Amino acid sequence: MPRRSDQRPGRSPPSDRVVRLRIEELALDGDGMGRIGTYLVFVPGTIPGEEVEAEIGRRGESHGRAKLVRVLSPSPHRVVPRCRHFGDCGGCSLQHIEYAEQLRLKEAMVRSHLGHALRAEVPVRPALGLDDPFGFRNKVHFNVGRGAEGEAVLGHLAARSRRLVPVAECPVHADAGNRVAFRLGGLLRRFHVAPAEGDPPTRGVARHVLARVSEASGETQVVLVVCRDRFPGRDALAEAMLSGPGGATGVHLNLNDREGSLVLGRETIHLGGKDRLVEEIGGVQFLVSPVSFFQTGIRGARLLLGEVLSAVGEGGGPVLDLYAGVGLFALPLAKTGRPVVAVEENPLSVRDGIHGVKRNGLKGVRFVRARVEDQVRRLAGEGEFEVAVLDPPREGASEKVLRLVAGAIRPRRIVYVSCDLRSLARDLKLLATLGFRLRSAVPVDMFPHTSHVETVATLTR
Ligand SMILES: C[S@@+](CC[C@H](N)C(=O)[O-])C[C@H]1O[C@@H](n2cnc3c(N)ncnc32)[C@H](O)[C@@H]1O
Repeated sequence: MPRRSDQRPGRSPPSDRVVRLRIEELALDGDGMGRIGTYLVFVPGTIPGEEVEAEIGRRGESHGRAKLVRVLSPSPHRVVPRCRHFGDCGGCSLQHIEYAEQLRLKEAMVRSHLGHALRAEVPVRPALGLDDPFGFRNKVHFNVGRGAEGEAVLGHLAARSRRLVPVAECPVHADAGNRVAFRLGGLLRRFHVAPAEGDPPTRGVARHVLARVSEASGETQVVLVVCRDRFPGRDALAEAMLSGPGGATGVHLNLNDREGSLVLGRETIHLGGKDRLVEEIGGVQFLVSPVSFFQTGIRGARLLLGEVLSAVGEGGGPVLDLYAGVGLFALPLAKTGRPVVAVEENPLSVRDGIHGVKRNGLKGVRFVRARVEDQVRRLAGEGEFEVAVLDPPREGASEKVLRLVAGAIRPRRIVYVSCDLRSLARDLKLLATLGFRLRSAVPVDMFPHTSHVETVATLTR
């Protein structure tokens, strides 16, 4: 019989293989965390408040990972996961938790993580969630792997692994996205396009299938990521993908022959149909190329945009939008009458952004194609910015960028949009030393059923 966790104080790993634990909180990767004395044990598939029995596998000095053996006292928020692949597939980690509770847990994660970094009570508002937490991913992604006969199959990777879990459904994807992606999977088999093998790939062709579906226009854009751009059946496959009811409106090939887990390579070839897709958010139309960054879920993007617009506020002063993408914030901000300078390094995103400006008949917004690091000082010399919006990738902003924004741009307000709590905490800590105080942090649930937390943080000087 495993002993209760609180009977075993100490930093060293417990000697028992199977232990009994009370789950205290969710760790950043979605695992439940309990303690044996001061030794931390992380157990996937558990919920704070639950008493569980778990088998410790990998043991570090201060913490270990365990497999859930059984739940001794289930949380009232435990639900039956909707997806048949949950648990095996690494895509979702929280489908066993009622959605309203997922939102409360994300709010608690933000409060605890930022509070710890800033050593203060932080003003976290309740997380904004989706009305329906399924079918929300307008951008769908599958890995291509090898089936029993060596044929191409679509799936997701298992958690913390490169093992492919073939999937027959993915209920977090928009239905139309699944349909078009599975159709491409079927065509890979029909035209004998083999899955890529090796890392870097040395045999086969297909690595990933991506599809984006527009809520506004109904267009579907598919991208087949391959490790060689010439292969038998390529043009016939593209033609079949574009034809008939349920066909895609645009088909692209992306060449990625490099080692590692980055999905997209540098070169994209337009095989047929439309070269871009049109989406609409907040009354603004956006043009999106297959390799431009655009938020994965449109319903989440609407919530995010609403938060950013209200954080920027109602004044009319100029806004500097750093890491702008195709202008998800810049274009609607320009529509409110504010002058906007948008900085983005990806040339295709900038091209999409400029076309978006024209398409919407907007005035007063200027895109600058550059690395933020190289532009901020020059832009500071061009005039004053009332607000700086920062939406960097997962790694956050560099110290150089934050020092330049705080010291040279000196906006009255910074709106920092983050998809990673670790880098957000680090950057808010630095901004605090540079005179910017956190006024509010709002989690926006862009990725239900995963532990990812998007946060809009508003700071004032
Ligand atoms: C998280 S996305 C945000 C895009 C946009 N705000 C949106 O919500 O659609 C980050 C963007 O920053 C761009 N980016 C990454 N590093 C950059 C850098 N050092 N300088 C300029 N842009 C960068 C990426 O190409 C990407 O479009």
